[in-house]
Amino acid sequence: MAPEIMKGLKDVYLDTTESSFIDGQEGKLLYRGYNIHDLAEKSTFEEVIYLLLYGALPTVSQLQEFDGILRANRIIPDEVIQILDLVKTSHPIDALRTGISALAAFDSDVNDNSEEATIRKAVRLTAMGPTLVATHHRLRQGLEPMAPNPNLNHSGNFMYMLFGEEPDEETTKLLDVDFILHAEHGANASAFGARVAASTLSDLHSAVVTGVGVLKGPAHGGAAEEVMKMALDIGNPENAEEYARKLLDSGGRIMGFGHRVYKAEDPRARHLRERSRKLGEKMGHPEWFQILTYLEDKVMVPYRSRGIFVNVDFFAGSIYYLLGIPDDLFISIFALGRIPGWALQCIEQYNDNMLIRPLLEYSGKMDLEFIPIEQRG
Ligand code: CMC
Repeated sequence: MAPEIMKGLKDVYLDTTESSFIDGQEGKLLYRGYNIHDLAEKSTFEEVIYLLLYGALPTVSQLQEFDGILRANRIIPDEVIQILDLVKTSHPIDALRTGISALAAFDSDVNDNSEEATIRKAVRLTAMGPTLVATHHRLRQGLEPMAPNPNLNHSGNFMYMLFGEEPDEETTKLLDVDFILHAEHGANASAFGARVAASTLSDLHSAVVTGVGVLKGPAHGGAAEEVMKMALDIGNPENAEEYARKLLDSGGRIMGFGHRVYKAEDPRARHLRERSRKLGEKMGHPEWFQILTYLEDKVMVPYRSRGIFVNVDFFAGSIYYLLGIPDDLFISIFALGRIPGWALQCIEQYNDNMLIRPLLEYSGKMDLEFIPIEQRG
């Protein structure tokens, strides 16, 4: 009897997790038991990293100490800066993948997969990630990389290293919320990729490199970039209807809509929707939000009955764009937010490991006669 094929592993439970809970029908997301709405409105990315890695919210002194460790670990080795310089013409997400891989050479814990060492590496990778992205971005513009500023928080320092000046509080908070919303999301494709790497007992750097590679695709982390490109193509709210109809009628997809798990609105989207609107108004560019909401409130309404709603990436791109971040950096920002989630998934995998090795049903030819090359026509 032919086996049942679970294409795309859709609806397959791979394991148990204490990382995040997702109710796709309700549109509910919890990290370690805490609602994403509370975390987005009341927490900080530093606190969420702690929560994910250690399983509980920190006390004031625990957070102070943890934040100090993050800040102290932002500097990347000169050799890695040289490598980023060598690959400066590459797409930023490729440079980030290369940079993380290169960091392995300078990490004394690289092959230690104990929980303590994996947390230490996760903290270092989370802390150094923004430095990799900002350093590559400056090198590709012919600019000197900025040294990390220990007086700024994680997101503020990232913007500082990208642009060479301290961001205002609102910009820092916007990015902080964005990192929180992207930090963890169950068995999504990139976390699954990271888990597969960990399940072979490969190390955290390899698993995170795998996660970055999987995230790159437009069906996953690449959507925010595609949404903003679409908004720029549309250019004006009046053109949105015709543009979207043409795209959908020709079998195309509106990026930033749809999700494998959410059949209701992605709960992360709400926090970026309101912030995108406010930022657009503040910057004197309400048109991007108008284009996006036209697509959401008019064009895509019939798709709701099929469970297709906006996802986290729909409004993210407009925020990055308004903050002056080039569109090819959008996936890297997603990756920087997701490093703690990937690390946590790897820790869970190491702690109760079984090699992830599914089966493929063979559908090719059988028992062909081998003809030596010189006799083939
Ligand atoms: N626009 C129009 N139609 C869509 C869309 C969309 N964005 N998404 C799904 N559909 C349709 C699709 O055409 C298909 O229709 P039919 O049954 O007639 O062939 C049906 O919905 C099911 O699509 P699917 O690809 O089989 O479903 P999936 O669960 O594998 O899709 C998805 C999930 C994210 C790949 C898909 O919704 C998509 O391609 N969305 C656009 C890309 C995107 O925004 N990705 C970011 C995901 S959120 C960030 C993250 O966590 O990675």
